[in-house]
Amino acid sequence: MTTAFAPATTRHVDETIEDQSIEIRAFDGPVGAEVLGLDLGKPLNQRDFARIHRAHLDHHVLVFRDQRITPDQQISFSRRFGPLQIHVLHQFQLPGHPEILVVSNVVENGKPIGLGDAGHFWHSDLSYKEKPSLGSLLHAQELPAEGGDTLFANMHLAWDTLPSHLRSAVEGRSAEHTYLAKYEELQKRSPWRPNLSAEQIAQVKPVVQPIVRTHPETGRQALFVSEHFTTRVIGMPEDESRALLEEIFAHSVRPEHLYRHEWKEHDMVFWDNRSLMHLAAGTPDHLRRKLYRTTIEGDVPF
Ligand code: SIN
Repeated sequence: MTTAFAPATTRHVDETIEDQSIEIRAFDGPVGAEVLGLDLGKPLNQRDFARIHRAHLDHHVLVFRDQRITPDQQISFSRRFGPLQIHVLHQFQLPGHPEILVVSNVVENGKPIGLGDAGHFWHSDLSYKEKPSLGSLLHAQELPAEGGDTLFANMHLAWDTLPSHLRSAVEGRSAEHTYLAKYEELQKRSPWRPNLSAEQIAQVKPVVQPIVRTHPETGRQALFVSEHFTTRVIGMPEDESRALLEEIFAHSVRPEHLYRHEWKEHDMVFWDNRSLMHLAAGTPDHLRRKLYRTTIEGDVPF
């Protein structure tokens, strides 16, 4: 996996750019806020950028409605937060825009145009990389008439409410994360998992991450294990490790930790992978769904 990064252009930091009339409206729930009055297609001055950045840290999921923007504009906004990561499944890049992963169940001329089962299991994006993702942005292109929701779990809350016997079992411990953990299982039931080349496999070697991570910008602690990518607790017998992880996964996604996003046309959703896990709730096979994802590189977890 390579990283594509271009520094913000001077246009972005030009203080002559007018403020947009932004309003941040928190959801009545454990996570999330709607950002009103912001057009992501327009240049953003430093003040507005700082407000969005702060809201992202406070609410973990930001929803921007009715964003009629191009892939280049999505890439440009995403890059304000850091370098972009290129997904290992280069087969599903948007042509001409390697920074965009097409998330879609659409098959055209017998060929999938995107990754149709992205998010089938709970996960935090790219937790299998030494530098997992800071955050991801998903922009709705085509939505099904029913289904297709995305769920988010607040992993700070999951940690704060973890029963004490589980807390003491995981504190100071690490776990292995690997992209390949569920690959074969997914491959058996969907057309979206091509055989990986030796080069692709080399890009996704297993990594070890702390089970409880500290958010690098807020200092808050969060659970950082997921049913998709976490395979074992380091230094623990296999059966004990499996049982412990299952208890933690079940606790993490208790209903009181969740926000369910019901997509509307042209929504852009920007979430914090250091604070959350997410899940694609599923789309009926006969309905089309297509979204564009950009993924921002984060720090080495600690
Ligand atoms: C993802 O996991 O990035 C995709 C989520 C979704 O399609 O709802």
